[in-house]
Amino acid sequence: MNTNTNTSAGAPRSGRNVVVVGTQWGDEGKGKLVDWLTESAQGVVRFHGGHNAGHTLVINGVKTALHLVPSGIMREGVTCYIGNGVVLSIAKLMEEVAGLEAAGVTVRERLRVSEACPLILPQQVFLDLAREAFRERAGSGKIGTTGRGIGPAYEDKVARRALRVQDLLHPERVASRLREQIELYNHTLQYLHAGDVSVPAELQAFVHRGQLQYEPILAEAKRQADWIKPMVADVSAEVNAAHRRGENLLFEGAQGALLDVDHGTYPYVTSSNCVAGNAAAGSGVGPSLLHYVLGITKAYCTRVGSGPFPTELDWETPGTPGYHMSTVGAEKGVTTGRARRCGWFDAALLKRSAQINGLTGLCITKLDVLDGLDKVQICVGYQQPNGQQLDMLPMGANEIQACEPIYEVLDGWSESTVGVTQYDKLPINARKYLERIEQVCGVPIAAVSTSPDRDHTILRHQPFQCQV
Ligand code: GDP
Ligand code: IMO
Ligand code: MG
Repeated sequence: MNTNTNTSAGAPRSGRNVVVVGTQWGDEGKGKLVDWLTESAQGVVRFHGGHNAGHTLVINGVKTALHLVPSGIMREGVTCYIGNGVVLSIAKLMEEVAGLEAAGVTVRERLRVSEACPLILPQQVFLDLAREAFRERAGSGKIGTTGRGIGPAYEDKVARRALRVQDLLHPERVASRLREQIELYNHTLQYLHAGDVSVPAELQAFVHRGQLQYEPILAEAKRQADWIKPMVADVSAEVNAAHRRGENLLFEGAQGALLDVDHGTYPYVTSSNCVAGNAAAGSGVGPSLLHYVLGITKAYCTRVGSGPFPTELDWETPGTPGYHMSTVGAEKGVTTGRARRCGWFDAALLKRSAQINGLTGLCITKLDVLDGLDKVQICVGYQQPNGQQLDMLPMGANEIQACEPIYEVLDGWSESTVGVTQYDKLPINARKYLERIEQVCGVPIAAVSTSPDRDHTILRHQPFQCQV
């Protein structure tokens, strides 16, 4: 049921808004929590990233994977907004919407897409792939991107040459802007020896011998324009109006704080700001509208792609705690199918995340995955090569690479926590683990997730009702 927060008498009061962000390197379970919290919201807003995101929802045993459509879509009557901060592949959105509609979900009637979203077309995707291939050949280290064109799309945006959703409503703008982009891209692609790059099936109509083809890409943009037109909106105006009507809104983060382009493990990051503050700029609301920041936090750590990971374990050898996390946690990426690297919980990293996001509360997910481990470890700081100790993750990949984790070792629990929905029903050692995390990170735990299923969630305080 959808709970409305309007007062019964007089004018409606303004709604309460919650920002949901990942606090680690993504895949913390944001989608599950956004879907669950949407019970108390009337709108969900995506504010950054693109289809590099992969969010899994499990409702009554049925799995749904989302990439661009906000995770509130499974609740009838909820409006889903894609804000200006998102880089949009309309081709991928069309596929995702078709899949949801085939499963009986109404989508297009409830989806509003900002006219200011920069577009991802075949050229951004191919450049992303060609660059990664070039880096690999040159031995200069791949970022391990999702190959979805995210970096090039954000580069176009800040370089002021992006095609945006609103341009699609003006065919003459598309033609000239596209020509300019493709000339520039083809120049770069030549330098990158893109003729040697294997072209995925979905790009074959647009690339010939490593060069982008203008006419087919223009035709593709026109096809996308017709489809997106009914959903194009001034999302900033609509979200602000919804707030004034008294609706509760969820701002749904993608990726995780340590993948943030400024605050993450640079240069092994994505190309957007993933921190909570970007919920305002990426959707066109003022920061005073962000009332509560919920940090979704896995009970251990995972990372996909390259980059430093201080608490990483051997996750490939059977019988090790890392292998336990990888297999019991089914740690495989939703977007690319790559294995996620696994390691112990890093409270020193969480302190950095709490600071850059201004976290109000934590939701600890996948606690059940640690069931059956003899001992569990929490990283509380790092030893530096110069003998110094740090209690918070430093900035930048080289600095993080030099960090040797300092661990506290706690007793594990043998009982199953799968599906537990009351805090006091958790094994005592699981509670001790959670409470130690809370203490070291300095952020209260609002919720705990004990299985992929929507309803298997323990609530300690409700973010929409929390007055902070
Ligand atoms: P997101 O990108 O943050 O939305 O997270 P993903 O959906 O990519 O990855 C999280 C994975 O963990 C998904 O497969 C979820 O179904 C699953 N998951 C979420 N919460 C829990 C939990 O509490 N326990 C277990 N075992 N799995 C969970
Ligand atoms: P969700 O929303 C995990 C990672 C990629 C790569 C780096 C840069 O599901 O948590 P990009 O394609 O963005 O240029 O790749 O960022 N990455 C993610 N890792 N979860 C995600 O999203 C990610 N989105 C990007 O693996 O290391
Ligand atoms: Mg994910």
